[in-house]
Amino acid sequence: MWGDSKPMFKSQEEIPDYFPSTPRNDWSIGLVKLVTILVIFMAGVVIGLSISAHFGRYYNSQTDLFFPSTMYTSSCEKDCMDFKNFVKPSNLMHTMTDQQLYWRASLVPKMEEFPFNRVPKVAFLFMTRGPLPFAPLWDRFFKGHAGLYSVYVHTLPDYRLNVSKDSAFYGRQIPSEEVSWGSITLVDAEKRLLANALLDYSNERFVLLSESCIPVFNFPTVYEYLINSAQSYVESYFIETPQCEGRYNRRMAPHITLDQWRKGSEWFELSRELAVNILSDVKYYSLFRKLCRPSCYPDEHYIPTFLHMFYGELNSNRTVTWVDWSRGGPHPARYGAVNITVEFIQSIRNSTCLYNGRPTSVCYLFARKFAPSALEPLMNLTSTVLEF
Ligand SMILES: *[C@@H]1O[C@H](CO)[C@@H](O)[C@H](O)[C@H]1NC(C)=O
Ligand SMILES: *[C@@H]1O[C@H](CO)[C@@H](O)[C@H](O)[C@H]1NC(C)=O
Ligand SMILES: *[C@@H]1O[C@H](CO)[C@@H](O)[C@H](O)[C@H]1NC(C)=O
Ligand SMILES: *[C@@H]1O[C@H](CO)[C@@H](O)[C@H](O)[C@H]1NC(C)=O
Ligand SMILES: *[C@@H]1O[C@H](CO)[C@@H](O)[C@H](O)[C@H]1NC(C)=O
Repeated sequence: MWGDSKPMFKSQEEIPDYFPSTPRNDWSIGLVKLVTILVIFMAGVVIGLSISAHFGRYYNSQTDLFFPSTMYTSSCEKDCMDFKNFVKPSNLMHTMTDQQLYWRASLVPKMEEFPFNRVPKVAFLFMTRGPLPFAPLWDRFFKGHAGLYSVYVHTLPDYRLNVSKDSAFYGRQIPSEEVSWGSITLVDAEKRLLANALLDYSNERFVLLSESCIPVFNFPTVYEYLINSAQSYVESYFIETPQCEGRYNRRMAPHITLDQWRKGSEWFELSRELAVNILSDVKYYSLFRKLCRPSCYPDEHYIPTFLHMFYGELNSNRTVTWVDWSRGGPHPARYGAVNITVEFIQSIRNSTCLYNGRPTSVCYLFARKFAPSALEPLMNLTSTVLEF
């Protein structure tokens, strides 16, 4: 950050501002020479200090002491309020706490018209512990559609994603925290992803994905489907089994009653409106944090229950992320290289459900779970069955 070479040239250019030219009289030529020497000397000092700032961050404060940065920045690069950065942060790293971040992300403009050309975007929120084995597939999916999507990645706190500069994942990691399976920390990570994505006012739809998810349609299809949808896609149901009804805690009553209790896959798709409402909820989140444990899995209950209680009409109650639970057990089936066939992908793409109240065969836009070995055969299918 401080290794940026811009300030050096800025200082050089702006030095003349501080030595306004005086009327030239004969007697002042000597003075002009003196001033010229001074200018060169000052420029040398400034360049010297700027260069040393490149090699040690602690020199920055020293530079500031002798040459307050405001003196040399007449443009608003650093100190002034910047509209562009307010509606779309250019750097995803920040120093806000979760509480500060959620509060800021919950701000909703009261004015209906945006003072800029707002093209709605789909935010792809990746939750992973580390690597993203399907990044090459996603990169091919995103290619050529810049400006219509944003990517956010939540990893383990110390993990650094290693992708090339032209990847959609480059520089898209958000400040992350430890996550443990089945605990409220998973909901916290989801909220962190939502909040960071909400800071970009052009993000309109929010999809949660994992490192084992793949797209099963091309970008234009996914974009049109989500942007034009009247509802969000959060799976929501109730069944009288230990894995659903059995996880309800009676101490949640009267705030949450058993008939309000819902379950659904954590892999959501949300409109901006619902994302803001979920982020702004403190009451029900706190109840889940306190009472949805142990063996309760808040990530499978909090959002479905909260939406059912207050925004049911805005939910389709189904998911757009295909998964195979047919084998039973705590984890869904995982597909590797040997399982990838045209027929298999075709079957995920062709199903039956309602979209905006009308029957459709396009029900799943994404699918899980896939093992890293599936990457190569899937890359071979992009130009044919996947159509991207
Ligand atoms: C990042 O990836 C590149 C190319 O795959 C590799 O050469 C490099 O060693 C990796 N860097 C780290 C820190 O893993
Ligand atoms: C989803 O469930 C809610 C109740 O939570 C209901 O109001 C809504 O109509 C359902 N949506 C659809 C598409 O059936
Ligand atoms: C994938 O293929 C292998 C070999 O045919 C099979 O044993 C396995 O059950 C398949 N996995 C899934 C999830 O279908
Ligand atoms: C989708 O499946 C139905 C029956 O399952 C079949 O009739 C139809 O031709 C399939 N559509 C496509 C595009 O494959
Ligand atoms: C992918 O396609 C290439 C070239 O057509 C072929 O050599 C390779 O075996 C294919 N890989 C898989 C896993 O299908």
